[in-house]
Amino acid sequence: NLATDYEAENGVCQGTIDSNHSGYSGTGFCNTDNAVGAAVEWTVNAAAAGNVAISVRYANGTTVDRPADISVNGTVVAAAKSFAGTGAWTTWTNVTLNVGLVAGSNKVRLAATTANGAANIDRLSV
Ligand code: GCU
Ligand code: CA
Repeated sequence: NLATDYEAENGVCQGTIDSNHSGYSGTGFCNTDNAVGAAVEWTVNAAAAGNVAISVRYANGTTVDRPADISVNGTVVAAAKSFAGTGAWTTWTNVTLNVGLVAGSNKVRLAATTANGAANIDRLSV
């Protein structure tokens, strides 16, 4: 039940909002700095507490994984989650996982764990 899209360009992007690789939604994507810890963070509102599926839409035009820690409200819930190569920077796909949210405002953060930074991040769907 992926009802709401949170565009990376409306979150906090540690890098630049770019639009040079087509196929993104909204007006662009977050090209994170190529550094450990480079992050994208969204504020997500949940009507009720509980576990939900979240998806991160990304592209990785390299052949090297761009793993990232996914955290919710400051707690890492998926360490070094894989964001494998997608074949091209214009080829976008989703990484999906289940996370627990509190009722109301939640901070969902994706932080690169390698010096390559994160994949290009298009959006979070909750
Ligand atoms: C290229 C590409 C960027 C990407 C970067 C990277 O510069 O155009 O969109 O973010 O590589 O390797 O992170
Ligand atoms: Ca980058």
